[in-house]
Amino acid sequence: MKALLTGGAGYIGSHTAVALLAEGFEVTIVDNLANSSRVAVNRIESLTGRNTVFHEVSLLDASAITAILCDEVPDVVIHFAGLKSVAESVDHPLDYYRTNVAGTLNLLDAMVASGVRSLVFSSSATVYGEPVRLPIDETSPITDAANPYGRTKLHIERMLQDLGAADPDWNIALLRYFNPVGAHESGEIGEDPNGIPNNLLPYVCQFAVGKQDRLVVFGNDYPTPDGTCLRDYVHVTDLASGHLAALRFLNDEKPGVACFNLGTGKASSVIEVIHAFERASGLALAYDIGPRRSGDVPASYTNPDKARLQLGWTAVKTLDDICQDAWRWQCRNPDGYVA
Ligand code: NAD
Ligand code: UD1
Repeated sequence: MKALLTGGAGYIGSHTAVALLAEGFEVTIVDNLANSSRVAVNRIESLTGRNTVFHEVSLLDASAITAILCDEVPDVVIHFAGLKSVAESVDHPLDYYRTNVAGTLNLLDAMVASGVRSLVFSSSATVYGEPVRLPIDETSPITDAANPYGRTKLHIERMLQDLGAADPDWNIALLRYFNPVGAHESGEIGEDPNGIPNNLLPYVCQFAVGKQDRLVVFGNDYPTPDGTCLRDYVHVTDLASGHLAALRFLNDEKPGVACFNLGTGKASSVIEVIHAFERASGLALAYDIGPRRSGDVPASYTNPDKARLQLGWTAVKTLDDICQDAWRWQCRNPDGYVA
């Protein structure tokens, strides 16, 4: 089986590439390296002892994408590529619509041209907006997202649903990730954010090694047990195995368009994450309580039953595993991927 991964040099894509290669898949990566490094591809290959085919190409180059798809004709495309910063999407919405929505359109046109009809798409729990009930399951209402990044995910999901409705040959899995965190247990691949990290765990990692001066908990007056927000932190290697489960499901069940929440079902507070990180690193982290961050929902965690029952997939790694692996990655790669 051959899988083509757009954005395969990135955080989630690189971990999924390792899992696919370990399962015997042939892997082609298409990535313009806008938020990743060629070093990640080298590490994928050295970790698995397998080669990949790598194309440094943007999804916005429609003719190049079509040529690659027609040449490679993969069995399935896993579409990770895109821009993902909420704050940046507010300041530069057109960049987000162009890369995420128009980039996906180019990819779909290329799939049509090459006869490839099997797709896994990286969606996000952000499509649930402020959840109307907890835990969130796949029947929970999809509300208008709070920012342009979230809206691009909604537009793409709807585009894929329309495509599936128009042509029954398509089989598409929409994977709504909760909070992907952690790193490969080898410490060789992990998350390598540009600039100051927005997300909690990469920020905590950089604070722990002294690259950030101050750790601020954004609000402790939420209606949660310790007053800080609750999230469903899912280890990135669990997420990678979720993609393999989705590929098997598409291949065996030919479901048309199906969506799945990928999370653990466990809710952890910001303070609990900090304490888990202290256990993993052996460091004491002095943090301040600050104001709430605009756009944060008090709680977001999944009901993982649909993925368990239909994909046979369950996240197995704990918050302690997550922090240990993130810390190992941070210590071994204090400056991320250095070419
Ligand atoms: P990432 O930034 O590490 O990976 C995305 C990859 O896409 C990068 O390697 C980047 O270089 C590439 N890319 C960007 N624009 C491109 C273009 N025009 N052409 C080709 N490649 C391009 O992000 P990630 O965390 O691995 O996320 C992967 C996907 O999962 C994204 O679509 C993201 O929106 C989604 N997602 C991520 C999270 C998260 O917290 N990490 C949560 C929910 C959903
Ligand atoms: C954020 C995005 C979301 C995106 C997700 C994954 C916002 C409002 N939401 O979600 O759209 O899908 O990342 O990329 O940006 N926190 C602190 N201090 C920090 C950093 C974070 O207290 O320095 C808190 C946040 O307030 C939140 C929790 O930690 O309560 C997790 O934050 P984060 O990792 O950014 O994830 P989300 O807010 O769930």
